[in-house]
Amino acid sequence: MHDSTAAAQDIVLQARNIERRYGAVVALSAASMELRRGEVMGLVGDNGAGKSTFLKILSGAVTPDAGSMEVSGRPVSFRRPSDALEAGIETVYQDLALVDTMSAVQNVYLGREELSSNRLLRALNVVNDKGMRTRSREVLKDLGVGIQSVNVSVRGMSGGQRQCLAIARALIWGRQIVILDEPTAALGVRESAQVLELIGRLRDRGVSVILVSHNMQQLVQVADRVTVMRLGRTIATRDVADITPEKIVGLITGAIPADVPTPEDTSTVVV
Ligand SMILES: Nc1ncnc2c1ncn2[C@@H]1O[C@H](COP(=O)(O)OP(=O)(O)OP(=O)(O)O)[C@@H](O)[C@H]1O
Ligand SMILES: [Mg+2]
Repeated sequence: MHDSTAAAQDIVLQARNIERRYGAVVALSAASMELRRGEVMGLVGDNGAGKSTFLKILSGAVTPDAGSMEVSGRPVSFRRPSDALEAGIETVYQDLALVDTMSAVQNVYLGREELSSNRLLRALNVVNDKGMRTRSREVLKDLGVGIQSVNVSVRGMSGGQRQCLAIARALIWGRQIVILDEPTAALGVRESAQVLELIGRLRDRGVSVILVSHNMQQLVQVADRVTVMRLGRTIATRDVADITPEKIVGLITGAIPADVPTPEDTSTVVV
């Protein structure tokens, strides 16, 4: 097979020049990203740079005004979150990830319960409780998520366990792309480490991850590449191996020039 074709097949998500306005506010003016199979892509930028808006467009929660997207080479246009789910994109939100009063297994299968394998029971909409429990237990064990029982309510779980469970849910559903919005923002050191390790395991299974984080040390630990946003634009993408946390901060603040021309750069005095 020709090299460029092989490379193209490894691009799971391509977003080009996405734009989005809210009235007079330009949230995104040119957001682009190329996500490869099995890579962790960090997405960074100052407050208000457009990261969340970009994620919401990639997960179908917000519709873009302009720009194009492809999933595995196929043009897509998401009108709602279920469109992105169907395309294999799972988003783990920071707060709304789990339902407190439900058990781990209920959370994993929330909204997509497996019906009983018995034809008669299936016709009556009886769910396959045993099957769901077994599968949840297998995946959680496989991932090394320490949850004592998949049957008890998640209310008593730690932040780290909850975040891991939400990530596991993405994996159980065979997602090829997982979007994580600041998954460790509310977690302690040990729990953060567990979540980062889990992200590494997603990657090992060929899942591609987009990770928004303000923690540069964590980011360089877990990400393969990093995309930097400034004022609604993606201005640079770097291999993490080639860059220090300090240089990423320089790109974020503008101390280091963007790869693409930006309106603010035209007024910057180059010294
Ligand atoms: N629903 C909305 N209505 C109006 N303006 C919005 C809306 N959502 C985002 N914006 C504006 O768009 C810009 C980008 O916001 P966004 O939330 O995407 O930034 P962010 O990079 O996620 O910032 P943070 O790091 O603070 O989370 C901001 O100026 C914000 O005020
Ligand atoms: Mg945000």
